[in-house]
Amino acid sequence: MFENLDVIPPDPILGLIGRFRDDPSLDKVDLGVGVYRDESGRTPVMGAVREAERLEVESASSKAYFGQAGNPAINPLIQELILGPAHPATVSERAVTLQTPGGSGALRVAAELLLEANPGVRVWVPSPTWANHVPLVGAAGIDLVSYPYYDPDTATVDRDELFTALEGLEAGDVVLVHATCHNPTGADLTLDDFRTLAEIALAKGTPVLVDSAYQGLATGLEADAAGARLLVQAGLEVLICTSFSKNFGLYRDRAGALTMCGPSSRTVGAAFSNALRLVRTMYSTPPDHGPATVARILGAEGLRSRWVGELEHMRARLISLRHTLVDALGARGAEGYAPIADQRGMFSLLGIDENAARKLTDEYHIYLPTNGRINVAGISDANVDYVADAIVAVTGDQSERR
Ligand code: LMR
Repeated sequence: MFENLDVIPPDPILGLIGRFRDDPSLDKVDLGVGVYRDESGRTPVMGAVREAERLEVESASSKAYFGQAGNPAINPLIQELILGPAHPATVSERAVTLQTPGGSGALRVAAELLLEANPGVRVWVPSPTWANHVPLVGAAGIDLVSYPYYDPDTATVDRDELFTALEGLEAGDVVLVHATCHNPTGADLTLDDFRTLAEIALAKGTPVLVDSAYQGLATGLEADAAGARLLVQAGLEVLICTSFSKNFGLYRDRAGALTMCGPSSRTVGAAFSNALRLVRTMYSTPPDHGPATVARILGAEGLRSRWVGELEHMRARLISLRHTLVDALGARGAEGYAPIADQRGMFSLLGIDENAARKLTDEYHIYLPTNGRINVAGISDANVDYVADAIVAVTGDQSERR
């Protein structure tokens, strides 16, 4: 039967992992997949995570199933991180949370649920968006509509185009937004933007799907959740897909959550019951190790403050690396990259064409997807001059483009 299958190219992001690993060059630099890196280029296990894992291994008394939503005792802790303590939606049981295999699992459960609720649903995604959004949500059988988001000339959110386009939302549509640290642009919506979005979505009766993969890595744990919380507070139907991959460094453990909020506990309860059925048909129950580790950290003051400290360090390092790169490029006369310093999270678009991006990889061993996205965390004091030289070399007269 396999003879019926064509060979398909590797994933544009995950495919870079193996290419980088197999490249023997001593100059190689990994600006590809979105993982945090320290100054030596490693992606360490966070100290609070290591300690929480030790406690978990020592005290876990069973590996029995918990059911489709994962450990029910820890979902409230996860919900509190996402919505804040005693959010009115939590208090009035208009919010439910289930654990999922990473943020991707949450997105896929959400997509299946939206389709179940409305077989004609269309999901609006920003242009550009995370390379896997369209395949992942689309594979559920949903039609996607792309809406303008980013102005490459100013390297900022194109608010006029964005909100004009969203006026075209129709009943039955759902709009997907990134909570913070927009992937791939690093250009985020402000709280005022979320307010405008809430007004439009309320007027159109449109649910909002929030992809929250970087809470704590843009401005702070609370500030980074403020947009999603505002949408919930506005009384919209909101599905928040949370990933713990980046802010807890739990990438391969696949820790995530889907939080569903709405104006009535009855409808949210119905959504929850449908989500449980859908989970059963896909992966039955979520992995436990990651969420258990997250919950141990969130539930113990000492561990929590240790984690917050580590997260703050990561965030500060990302911001400082942005300046390091912009300064190195500026020192080479490439001034147009300045907006990268104002963007947030792991990613920015260099604004270079596919050819130049390929050259960076093929000739300079600098790994990045062909859309010119860089993972800022892959920059270090040791490689920044090499990276800046290479960018200037491959862009030539494009260097002023941003
Ligand atoms: C990325 O965008 O690099 C990360 O979110 C990893 C992934 O799964 O694509």
